[in-house]
Amino acid sequence: MRLPIVAANWKMHKTPAEAAEFAQALVAPLLPFEGVERVICPPFIAIPAVAEALRGTPIKVGAQNVHQEPQGAYTGCISVPMLQGLVEYVIVGHSEVRQYLCETDAMINAKAKAILAGGLKPIIAVGESLAQREAGETVAFVGAQVRAALEGIPAEALPSIVIAYEPIWAIGTGRNASPEDANQTIKVAVRDVIAALYGEATAQQVRIQYGGSVKPENMADYMRMPEIDGALVGGASLKLNDFVALVRLAQEAKSG
Ligand code: PGA
Repeated sequence: MRLPIVAANWKMHKTPAEAAEFAQALVAPLLPFEGVERVICPPFIAIPAVAEALRGTPIKVGAQNVHQEPQGAYTGCISVPMLQGLVEYVIVGHSEVRQYLCETDAMINAKAKAILAGGLKPIIAVGESLAQREAGETVAFVGAQVRAALEGIPAEALPSIVIAYEPIWAIGTGRNASPEDANQTIKVAVRDVIAALYGEATAQQVRIQYGGSVKPENMADYMRMPEIDGALVGGASLKLNDFVALVRLAQEAKSG
């Protein structure tokens, strides 16, 4: 049984003070949902304040990106050693970082390795564009992203890896993939690909989230899908009641 994981990707929202206040306000309402791993990914600058606000609680902190090198002349970047002790998770491969910050599959692979080597856990985002979907290339494209991200990563590390399947056309658009469609893509383009690389038993241990316009109205339908182990949430994670509802719906759906 895989522990469901619901992660809030706050993107470029909230100052450190706003982030700390919001994180504090989330603690009590999120506490009862022990059947779900709860992760908050604030902007880098707010990570220390959020980590402090969540210290001693079961709610985890994540970063939204990282540089693959431990240090060096990389202006504006943050490394794994800088995040150690503050976060448990790091998102890599988000489509916005791939697009606006020119993150490549090779960089994502290097980042995933650096994250794992540093004792942290990567949330690796993959997903196809609308043009790729319409051309019938979804499975081939997403499968290739998964293979590239995992290149050279040993099987023992796989249980520490989360994959987030986020069709680009569904992110922030209000246009979400149907739960059946997301479930099927996750199965054939992610889990089966991992199974081909590492064997079925390992693939069964990897948690795979859906992301893209997840909200309280559609969460339960996603969470009822057997291949979907949680959600990576942007917009709805900025609304306290909505995010709490998403975690509750994940717990209800996955506990039977
Ligand atoms: P959204 O973003 O929930 O606002 O669609 C999801 C994401 O980018 O992770």
